[in-house]
Amino acid sequence: MNTILRLEHIQKYYGNEGNLTKAIQDISFSVEAGEFLGIMGASGSGKTTLLNCISTIDTVSAGHIFLEGTDITEIRQSSLARFRRENLGFVFQDFNLLDTLTISENIALALAINKVPAGSVESRVLDMAGKLNISDILDKYPYQVSGGQKQRCACARAMINNPKLLLADEPTGALDSHSSQMLLSTMQSINEQLGATILMVTHDAFSASYASRILFLQDGEIFMELRKGDDSRSAFFDKILNVLTMIGGGQSHVC
Ligand SMILES: Nc1ncnc2c1ncn2[C@@H]1O[C@H](COP(=O)(O)OP(=O)(O)OP(=O)(O)O)[C@@H](O)[C@H]1O
Ligand SMILES: [Mg+2]
Repeated sequence: MNTILRLEHIQKYYGNEGNLTKAIQDISFSVEAGEFLGIMGASGSGKTTLLNCISTIDTVSAGHIFLEGTDITEIRQSSLARFRRENLGFVFQDFNLLDTLTISENIALALAINKVPAGSVESRVLDMAGKLNISDILDKYPYQVSGGQKQRCACARAMINNPKLLLADEPTGALDSHSSQMLLSTMQSINEQLGATILMVTHDAFSASYASRILFLQDGEIFMELRKGDDSRSAFFDKILNVLTMIGGGQSHVC
């Protein structure tokens, strides 16, 4: 097993004495290379805070986070932007594509920011577009393509620099069920075929059923872990629903 990410006793507090929110109480876990990890839990349980600490968008109050052995809680503020560019990929809920750039340019921008030599940009964009089945729309603008194609473009942009981790916070949150399913299938193929390690926060049991393991948070702590193992996706989905019922009295209460 090749551990890519290790969290050791992470705590995150907001506010100050007298008005302290313990968003993360004490969380430790490891992620192996190639895992697709889901993070679930009720609203306010600390999911986004946890993801923001891992992505270095937020700073931890205590504890350490190691990405391939490097303690990322020790990275200086001035080096964080570069660290994120070189090591992390993000899939945002609204995709954040730039409307004035073509699909191809949107993907290439991520390479340009990382100072990839101009000569290799085109071939890398074509290669990734082929893997995500968007080769035929590269010259179109975001408003000229479907929602599913926009998602695949966003995934291509997130993956083009071969990130060590792909991070997604409620990536299907703004999508209808058909588009959600397409995005999840794309993330699944990124995981299985490109070997990407994915961390996905979701409140939705169907989305979570695409993960290979799920951590359930409650009040800033890990309440339970579920592994898909050899289960079918529908059997895993049922197990997830059972845990959600246990945590919050039914799926509708868990968001
Ligand atoms: N910037 C902040 N300042 C103060 N408190 C915060 C801040 N961000 C989050 N919190 C608090 O930390 C706790 C965890 O919030 P977090 O956003 O991580 O929850 P979540 O599990 O992502 O919830 P949701 O499902 O609603 O997105 C909550 O009590 C929240 O109010
Ligand atoms: Mg959240």
